Amino acid sequence: MSNKGHKKNSEYKKGPHLVLIGFMGSGKTSIGRSLSYKLKRAFYDTDKMIEEREGVTISELFADKGEKYFRELETQVLREIRDDKIGRIYSLGGGTPVSLQNQPLIKTIGTVVYLRLKPEEVWERLKGDTTRPLLQCDDPLAKIQSLMKLRSPAYERCADIIIDNGSKDRDDVIEEILRELESRGWEIPPESYKEASKSDDTESDE
Ligand code: S3P
Repeated sequence: MSNKGHKKNSEYKKGPHLVLIGFMGSGKTSIGRSLSYKLKRAFYDTDKMIEEREGVTISELFADKGEKYFRELETQVLREIRDDKIGRIYSLGGGTPVSLQNQPLIKTIGTVVYLRLKPEEVWERLKGDTTRPLLQCDDPLAKIQSLMKLRSPAYERCADIIIDNGSKDRDDVIEEILRELESRGWEIPPESYKEASKSDDTESDE
């Protein structure tokens, strides 16, 4: 199949960051926090960065200034991350990889981990959530299904590593990510692995 217009991920010169992408509710923030501890790198959630700058919640931003304005801020934040040369961990909003102008930026800023979930698994996690404006509708499950169908190719296109995060134990997911990173030349502190922390009875790991 032709890949016209899309460079392969391996063709990008990768920046120093670890980038987490995936649908709303895919665990980007909680996995990002754990990885921050394990890899001794600062963690940032781009939604939180936008909220702090604008002084309002994402829901308020959507209501007051509209989705288009929010999407422009997402691109602006990605450009800033690209110019940040200290390796950090960034979690991106679920819709960030959809924009064609964001995709090369995402691929450039660092190693990208896609946390993949099935629509029903997302629904289980987000039932009753009121903080995602896109899901405040009559049939949120149908919305999740249609958005997921639309977005999955974008997530896959941006990803260097794909991890199924639906039903696995969080520690196992962290372990899988660390091993994938190590196989790509990342230096992983040996004590970060589960086995190491189990056998280390002097200090507790978490
Ligand atoms: C969005 C996902 C949200 C947030 C905004 C829009 C989306 O982030 O950026 O509500 O378009 O999927 P999370 O993925 O962190 O929930």
